[in-house]
Amino acid sequence: MQSILVTGGAGFIGSNFVRYILQNYPDLTVVNLDKLTYAGNLENLRDVEDNPNYHFVKGDICNQELVEYVVRKFNVDVVVNFAAESHVDRSILGSEVFMRTNVIGTQVLLEVAKKYEIEKFIQISTDEVYGSLGPTGKFTEDMPLSPNSPYAASKASADLLCRAYFKTFGVPIIITRCSNNFGPYQFPEKLIPLMIINALNDKPLPVYGDGENVRDWIYVLDHCRAIDFVIQRGKPGEIYNIGASNEWRNIDIVKLILKKLNKPESLIKFVKDRPGHDRRYAMDWTKIKRELGWEPIFSFEEAITETINWYIQNEDWWKKVISGEYQNYYQLWYGERLKN
Ligand code: NAD
Ligand code: DAU
Repeated sequence: MQSILVTGGAGFIGSNFVRYILQNYPDLTVVNLDKLTYAGNLENLRDVEDNPNYHFVKGDICNQELVEYVVRKFNVDVVVNFAAESHVDRSILGSEVFMRTNVIGTQVLLEVAKKYEIEKFIQISTDEVYGSLGPTGKFTEDMPLSPNSPYAASKASADLLCRAYFKTFGVPIIITRCSNNFGPYQFPEKLIPLMIINALNDKPLPVYGDGENVRDWIYVLDHCRAIDFVIQRGKPGEIYNIGASNEWRNIDIVKLILKKLNKPESLIKFVKDRPGHDRRYAMDWTKIKRELGWEPIFSFEEAITETINWYIQNEDWWKKVISGEYQNYYQLWYGERLKN
């Protein structure tokens, strides 16, 4: 591998991944193709922007001409596709852009991968494609797809396209499905940063429904390490689940954040539930451990504390992020929910 194309590298996981690759592979060229939607932020990569091995191209993965140009210009041999609309609640407010970026965008990248005989194409998918679990059991790679939100349906569609390009054209795709990530640079529409920032601002913490939905949390750098293992050792055509066996009820995560910030639980406000809200996610990641030798190494306790400290120390970052468009979204989604 000499040149890697990271799509969506200005987002949360993508920017952590770009930094991880530059740190660990000093001979590799890293090209970040990102449209810079509301979720894309070049400030996430300020510390690496002068690295001679790093190149940023502003653009849309749906633009085939541009993607082909980037692949030719930088002799790309590996593609890692993070670019996506990623927030479930936004997909409930409007799903069109999710279909365009997550489905058509992936199809365009696969076409280009076929044409230029890319060596490996990693599709960053999600546990949400499996749907929702009851109180027991875990998601395994051979479970049927059963997405419940427009976001999850768009990601499942992309996974199916990847499978088809492997079966029909032999494009060497690998799909990874990871559980909920947390860490620095996460956009504050997602549970953990939203709760940290609202608590810091002494604003209500909106918990959906009864707060007993369960998510399986993994530190973003463990996810980045897993993708590295998949690039190095993964087998084309395969799917790998990624997780950390770290299940939390939402209400308990929210209380933990309040405790660490020394803020009162009276800030918690139970609000109207998210429609189609998946009850529980839990990952079985024995396949990636057994076949590729990856397992998570970060302690949750340390990583969540560091993440909270990162938001405390990077107020400038999130103050800019939550000005402008974010306010419109917040009002639209939470306005009624938070009344009285
Ligand atoms: P994010 O919303 O923080 O970042 C998405 C990035 O993609 C942004 O930089 C955005 O500008 C870019 N983008 C959006 N549309 C684009 C387009 N048409 N062309 C080029 N760039 C475009 O998302 P994230 O949380 O970092 O998630 C990254 C990927 O990982 C997504 O594919 C998501 O489905 C997947 N994933 C996320 C999680 C999680 O917990 N956040 C877990 C599992 C999988
Ligand atoms: O599981 C992987 C997925 O995790 C990724 O594919 C998605 O891109 C990512 O957004 C995330 O989806 P979730 O819907 O699980 O994450 P979110 O942070 O939006 O919500 C986590 C849980 O917290 C969920 O049960 C809903 C709840 N929640 C969320 C918000 C934003 C609340 O109770 N209140 C809130 O304000």
